[in-house]
Amino acid sequence: ALPKILLTRTLPPESQRLIEHAQDIELLHWKDGVIPRDQLLKLVPGVSGILCTLIEKIDSELLDAAGPNLKVVSTFSVGYDHVDLSELRKRKIHLGYTPDVLTDATADITSLLVLAASRRMREAIRAVEDGEWNVWSPVWMLGTQLTGKTVGIVGLGRIGVATARRLKPFLGANGKIIYSGNSDKPVAIELGASRVKFDMLIREADIICICCALNVQTREMFNYGAFKAMKKNVILVNTARGAIIQQDDLIRALSEGLLGSVGLDVTTPEPLKPDHPLLKFQNVIVLPHIGSATLETRTMMGNLAVENVLSGVRGQTMPSSVEL
Ligand code: GLV
Ligand code: GLV
Repeated sequence: ALPKILLTRTLPPESQRLIEHAQDIELLHWKDGVIPRDQLLKLVPGVSGILCTLIEKIDSELLDAAGPNLKVVSTFSVGYDHVDLSELRKRKIHLGYTPDVLTDATADITSLLVLAASRRMREAIRAVEDGEWNVWSPVWMLGTQLTGKTVGIVGLGRIGVATARRLKPFLGANGKIIYSGNSDKPVAIELGASRVKFDMLIREADIICICCALNVQTREMFNYGAFKAMKKNVILVNTARGAIIQQDDLIRALSEGLLGSVGLDVTTPEPLKPDHPLLKFQNVIVLPHIGSATLETRTMMGNLAVENVLSGVRGQTMPSSVEL
């Protein structure tokens, strides 16, 4: 029998064709949107590969259900906080992911949120829609200029670097870029960026971009104490993972007026219900986790995820795998 691959969602058309045309595998394709957990557990026994998204939790229960044939998990994402790495390691299962191809799109969304937050885009659009646009005024709807400001990047990885490159021209000659993270990054020299401690970054930055992975170190790193330490007009943007922010603390900080403007592409939970308290603040812009959502990028992610799972099942080196 051919090795089985479970595909938990429908991919962008080009990538979907790519996996359907593979002759040496049997494809189990879940076609009806998000796969319910019980269906997932029923479909995995005996599979050699799983192509999943960040929605599906890959944990010991699932891996046990899959059994010893499973060679590879390929996630259609750069983040892999939904995957239990130590359980994969124990079972010698490989993990494929999709870095690089989504860097530009995600850095675009991060920059977009910085600009939108700094210029009160949500309030401005709502004012037009609600008939509050009365007459041009010298003092109405004033935002914050980026020129001369300090941008703090939390996590100067691929996306952090691409974001810094995009924002640098907005800051002008007197602007500054600082970053925090576990190691000095050679690319920082070319960006003119200096590494500082997290505690210093949140105090000094006018604009904070969260571009790091979610892990035990970064989970709820942004808590009430951090918000209190920030500048009063700070612009805070998160395009990484919702859980890096302690969201109840964020809501408290917002209600106490501690923050200038916030842009989020990720939240806890996802999706947020329309009546969620976070959405009541006019200085908070929430996007529905669309950082990588361009046709071009999602196609490249899909193709890479397909190549990863096929290579893994065939016992070949994956084009893009996580070091376990
Ligand atoms: C999206 O959030 C991703 O990790 O690719
Ligand atoms: C994401 O992949 C990053 O390195 O920023």
